[in-house]
Amino acid sequence: MTLQYDELKKQIDSRRTFAIISHPDAGKTTMTEKLLFYGGAIRLAGSIKGRKTKKYAASDWMEMERERGISITSSALQFSYNGYRINILDTPGHQDFSEDTYRTLTAADSALMMIDMAKGVEAQTKKLFKVCRMQGIPIFTFINKLDRQGREPLELLDEIENVLGIGSYPLNWPAGMASGSYGLYDRRLHKLELSQGGRISEIMPANGLGLEDAALKNALGDSFHDTLRDEIALLDGAGDNFELDKVRKGLLTPVFFGSAISGFGIETFFHEFLQMATPPGGTKSNEGLIEPTAEKFSGFIFKIQANMNPAHRDRIAFLRVCSGKFEQDKVVNLVRTGKNIKLSQPQQFLAQNRNIVEEAYPGDIIGLFDPGIYQIGDTLCEGGSFQFEKLPRFSPELFAKVTARDATKYKQYHKGLSQLTEEGAVQVFKVPGTDEIILGVVGELQFEVFQHRLQSEYGAAVNLQRLPYHLARWVMDADPETLSRLRSFVVKDANDKTVLLFENEYSLNYVKNNNPSVTLYTLEECPVV
Ligand code: G4P
Repeated sequence: MTLQYDELKKQIDSRRTFAIISHPDAGKTTMTEKLLFYGGAIRLAGSIKGRKTKKYAASDWMEMERERGISITSSALQFSYNGYRINILDTPGHQDFSEDTYRTLTAADSALMMIDMAKGVEAQTKKLFKVCRMQGIPIFTFINKLDRQGREPLELLDEIENVLGIGSYPLNWPAGMASGSYGLYDRRLHKLELSQGGRISEIMPANGLGLEDAALKNALGDSFHDTLRDEIALLDGAGDNFELDKVRKGLLTPVFFGSAISGFGIETFFHEFLQMATPPGGTKSNEGLIEPTAEKFSGFIFKIQANMNPAHRDRIAFLRVCSGKFEQDKVVNLVRTGKNIKLSQPQQFLAQNRNIVEEAYPGDIIGLFDPGIYQIGDTLCEGGSFQFEKLPRFSPELFAKVTARDATKYKQYHKGLSQLTEEGAVQVFKVPGTDEIILGVVGELQFEVFQHRLQSEYGAAVNLQRLPYHLARWVMDADPETLSRLRSFVVKDANDKTVLLFENEYSLNYVKNNNPSVTLYTLEECPVV
């Protein structure tokens, strides 16, 4: 073992890269902010939430986000805590951005799922959970807003198991108390954390006494103590056992209760979470698993974002480091093009600031200036030519014809159109033999964001005329004669591949049944796109 290897291994072991997922309003922003606060990355709790009224925060850039109060862009924040180097990936809560979320989750080693204690598992929780499941990453659950009247904890556990289909193990458990006070019993350390009139304290029972400790009984009073004892007995008897191996394989979710806004239960949660979550592991490539400890640097681009800072007018490609050590000015191979690229001035995102990164390790996310050379899914590696597994793409389901409102803004319109397409925000199709451009998206809100961004970032107002199509299928092998026989709406994608648009399953099946020799692919199945 060389000194270099030892240093790399030490850095990797201290990394925790995770995404926070939630239905809007469950408390993702509040939790992010609290964790940054504990990590000393922000001085005042509340400074990130201030974005909603005045400033852009590092985790949310878009004005539209302020207007709507939803997280549209995804970003990464880094800070240190208790000897760990932490990367938090922010994911959009809105379902219309599920494609963006999916790509972001490919860069995460685990996920934290926030649930509102009064609302339980909500629509977007289900969708995001499913995406995490597909990734096979460990999922931790935080049931938030314990300070408010919520649903019965046992009922919430049932819901997690039945609706999401994952076993759960609560690490702590709410202890009922007189109004204005509430408690959390730690099932492993047996301590009781209390919040009384906003003051947080802790009772550590005498050795071996656990729930039977007199001070603990006294703090709760007979009735609440009896309930807690019964519920803990039920969990111990009928609940899942705790198995770290299952947690790490994403088969069991550790559950924590607490209140992000008051900080109650957060430090305990974070401490346990950091121990249970996995450090960066190997990444699949066409040359097998690339271990993070491999000597040579490698990484992949999972997100491109233009105009993150309106003052800078720049475009950033987010890269997840997968192996080796990254150093500024490193020369790497951009495998798709085979070109060597010098990575100068890469950035990291620390709370409200961007910093120039001098070095980064597996698990870290760095922002690279993108003069238009990167694509989502690109592999960058030092002295190699392997490619990481392709990031999945989703077939668009909504289509609209786009036209510039002002012909004199033609240049701005085209620049915006091409940059937003490269970001993966929308897909663009051309109608052969015409100048017509058609946008394809997965969710309705993407249209609005597209329109808004073209106007605010490029100064090009556009009209969108909705089209009746809902299905896109790629055709690889059809000649013009066959295509005209299919009598479908034919367009070309950004790679000049032929795509057919259909209004519904019925019209798709009609074409399929009458043309058995033509293979139609969804974007996910498509062999070459
Ligand atoms: P999100 O990012 O998941 O959408 O949720 P966010 O953190 O913005 O929280 C949504 C609302 O829930 C906020 O209230 C926030 O203050 C509140 N909240 C978060 N954690 C807790 C908690 O532990 N207990 C209670 N009682 N409330 C919590 P808001 O009124 O929408 O915004 P604000 O005026 O507080 O900024």
